Amino acid sequence: MILSRARLRGKAAPVPAPAVPQGTELPRHVAIIMDGNGRWAARRKLPRLAGHKAGADAVRRVARAARDMGLECLTLYAFSSENWKRPEQEIADLTALLKHFIANDLDEFHANNVRLRVIGDYHAFEPSAVEMVERALAKTAANDGSTMVIALNYGSQNELARATQALARRVASGELRPEEITTDAIAAELDTADLPPLDLLIRTSGEQRLSNFLLWQVAYAELYFTEKLWPDFDAEALAEACKVFAGRQRRYGGL
Ligand code: FPP
Repeated sequence: MILSRARLRGKAAPVPAPAVPQGTELPRHVAIIMDGNGRWAARRKLPRLAGHKAGADAVRRVARAARDMGLECLTLYAFSSENWKRPEQEIADLTALLKHFIANDLDEFHANNVRLRVIGDYHAFEPSAVEMVERALAKTAANDGSTMVIALNYGSQNELARATQALARRVASGELRPEEITTDAIAAELDTADLPPLDLLIRTSGEQRLSNFLLWQVAYAELYFTEKLWPDFDAEALAEACKVFAGRQRRYGGL
């Protein structure tokens, strides 16, 4: 079994990580489009909320597994900028689940040296949620074991538009020359600027599209689609995706 980074630092890592064969290359940064909560509930003739609750359980499970496995960064697409189109009640339910997660699970991740980050403009949520997110970000800011990123009110096209505006402002003020707008300069303006490069993007539930998620960052990431619905995704499933990743040949356009 691979020794998790948490263990190497001597911090508690209570749950043994599922087997990823020793010597296989772990992705540094894994992002997940958590899809299929509604279908999971429909198959059981349950309300959609039951699917989202089971989805939140999966978040807890998979975040623990990622930490114990020694992944440097896990990014979860929890709420897209398009999800505001959903019924008000569903938005309220998802916000409540986020708040519940922060209230009940953050301490465990903090104790394990996990830093929480958010991408997207979370200020659009109700004030009590914004306050909880901000407290969680501040509390875990100095942790350096691993990073858990939650995408909240996130949309990649909007992120790129905001980055472009920031660069345009710097050009207009004379601080930057147009030819200094390099790929690195753009990446530095994105919400993900301080995160490791994205290695692996997973989407659950059999859908095969990116849904406005990390469009820039995905440039050289490996894509992994699974039929599993998000509430059924677990440590084993994450380990399997990492195993598939380890078997991929990444050439970055070279030979
Ligand atoms: C997609 O399933 C899932 C979402 C839009 C929300 C993801 C939220 C959670 C997993 C729970 C709360 C999150 C945290 C961070 C605690 P869907 O509803 O689109 O499923 P469907 O396509 O089957 O209808």
